[in-house]
Amino acid sequence: MLIYQEKDYNAVSRRAAWIIAAQVVAKPGCVLGLATGSSPVGTYQQLVQWHKQGDLSFAEVRSVNLDEYYGLAPDHDQSYRYFMQANLFDHVDIDPENTNVPNGLAKDAEAECLRYEQKVAELGYADLQLLGMGRNGHIGFNEPCGCFPVMTHLVDLAESTIEANARFFASAGDVPRQALTMGIGTIMKARKILVVVSGEDKADAVYKAVCGPVTPEVPASVLQLHPDVVLVADQAALSKLTEAVQ
Ligand code: GLP
Repeated sequence: MLIYQEKDYNAVSRRAAWIIAAQVVAKPGCVLGLATGSSPVGTYQQLVQWHKQGDLSFAEVRSVNLDEYYGLAPDHDQSYRYFMQANLFDHVDIDPENTNVPNGLAKDAEAECLRYEQKVAELGYADLQLLGMGRNGHIGFNEPCGCFPVMTHLVDLAESTIEANARFFASAGDVPRQALTMGIGTIMKARKILVVVSGEDKADAVYKAVCGPVTPEVPASVLQLHPDVVLVADQAALSKLTEAVQ
């Protein structure tokens, strides 16, 4: 695992955007695995800026998102489809037909998970998968549990995740209780994984993911087994890790 320690959120965003832009320039038709949450917002802003300056094109890029709240319509302002449109897709030249997010309104969640997994497989999995990290070490919406879920599946969100994400909703009661998420297996099939993390509230999760045992109780710890992971984090998110090695 390659770790970049950056001074703050803006520096994390710039570094992550460089890595994604390099991937797109090297392979214009690449498959980008994309993430939501506050962590990648700055990264997307930087990519949009380079696109507007004429330095970066997404015309041939295909994208697959990690996850979606189950029960939210694509035009709900807290759905991850809406997030992607607002933060990236509406501002760059990506073909809307080439963007993929699980359908949060699918009646048959199991069939939707299978369809989505097959779509990602058809595309050959991600060349580069962008990830944030939950405070409990979740990636996508793979919550701490007794095993590593392999494929796209319906998940019950952990109470701590509902609390953490309540800041985006009117109240915790409005946060959906379930989500559709790529499995750990789907994520691990990406050729390269880029993790962006910032803030002290992630320090414990980062420490456990990097230095702790590989365990489904800390889903991000599985990344220790991937051959090409880049972690870009600010000093606050790395504070526990740096303390431990000093
Ligand atoms: C959500 C998303 C994750 C994201 C996590 C952290 O639960 N499903 O993909 O990594 O939140 O979010 P944030 O970056 O806002 O801390």
